[in-house]
Amino acid sequence: MTEQQNPSTFNPGKGAGSAVGVAILGYGTVGSQVLRLMLENADEFAHRAGGPLEVRGVAVSNVEKHNGTLADEKGLLTNDARSLISRDDVDLVVEVIGGIDYPRELVLAALRSGKSVVTANKALVAAHSAELAEAADAAGVDLYFEAAVAAAIPVVGPLRRSLAGDRITKVAGIVNGTTNFILDAMDSTGANYEDVFAEADRLGYVEADPSADVEGHDAASKAAILASLAFHTRVTADDVYCEGITKISAADIDVAKSAGYTIKLLAICERLVDDSGNESVSARVHPTLVPRSHPLASVNKSFNAIFVEAEAAGRLMFYGNGAGGNPTASAVLGDIVGASRNKVFGGRAPGESTYANLPIADFGDVPTRYHIDMNVEDRVGVLAELTQIFAAHGISLRTVRQEEQEQSARLLVITHTAREADLSATVAALAETDAVLNVNSVIRLAGE
Ligand code: HSE
Repeated sequence: MTEQQNPSTFNPGKGAGSAVGVAILGYGTVGSQVLRLMLENADEFAHRAGGPLEVRGVAVSNVEKHNGTLADEKGLLTNDARSLISRDDVDLVVEVIGGIDYPRELVLAALRSGKSVVTANKALVAAHSAELAEAADAAGVDLYFEAAVAAAIPVVGPLRRSLAGDRITKVAGIVNGTTNFILDAMDSTGANYEDVFAEADRLGYVEADPSADVEGHDAASKAAILASLAFHTRVTADDVYCEGITKISAADIDVAKSAGYTIKLLAICERLVDDSGNESVSARVHPTLVPRSHPLASVNKSFNAIFVEAEAAGRLMFYGNGAGGNPTASAVLGDIVGASRNKVFGGRAPGESTYANLPIADFGDVPTRYHIDMNVEDRVGVLAELTQIFAAHGISLRTVRQEEQEQSARLLVITHTAREADLSATVAALAETDAVLNVNSVIRLAGE
């Protein structure tokens, strides 16, 4: 499929000054801010969109729960999302519910009935982009999802539009605020994961089900969206290799610090080229050692930052608030204005672009580097024995540090770049060797 629009579904527009009817699905942290800002800034949005934006309703699962809120005061609440979507005077549906199955059904119903959709739902877009894009194309409407990746930080728009004239080679960065908050606190206080997690929970950073954040799935959904946009290839969350931060210990952070690194959960999307010139796409999320001098190392608290590397543009960095009600509402509102302009003046936003259709690289073929922390026997010949194992797998060593301990030696090895499969086979062979008492941790490196 290309970005070319189907002329039979060309949208001629309602005409300058026409009202755009908006349905909001969901009234949580984001939905409530979207409604407040839409009402507070209605005059400005009318100028920007070319016609007034009129909220027709706000669908929630339990109307009583929202008694006394702005949506209630304005008489907008309904528990019948399907009827709200199908109203003739609704042109645009804003989905800020979260989850996958129920929002998918509503978003598809909206698109199929000719309504443009704005969603903040990364899990939905990452899992069902093809189906959603096809429904939007068939109806000649827009599907916007700027808020799905890094909330307030404009990165979807730049990839879809501003960089459409360039060739992107890499998109990498911190795309999950909760895990960055936890890793940053571990780095600055020396506390262990469990204690920092409890503190993050107390401060309200952790979601009811924290696994999407700490196991890396939220970041993996965002990586899938970024890789799809950057490489004009359909990448789903299932295509993304994913490791979370739950195994990162205070000792890992300590060792990283002593070697001049910090640990970040990175999403890395790359265009890979093999020796024969064949291209493929890699998308992965894992804890990563980043040099303390790298700009990503100073992204602290719950902030996000994304680097984009493109052949002509060079390196671009996007930084800011990647979560929270207002920052997410900012991105949603930008999309609402964009989709509304198209409803008023005609035309469509760039749709899904998958013409490159590159294969997804086997994770074992991805080039990476390891930091290996192990306890080994402290006796003559151990180092020679272990370096033989690295050599046998074709792995070149960059640094080897040894710390004396009472009964053993702690060996901290940083490798040069090699295939993931070769590095992982090396670690398996090390773990099988009598001289290695324990492999304490294996963490990948990036940013040098
Ligand atoms: N839980 C997510 C985060 C919210 O921490 O970044 C935005 O996706």
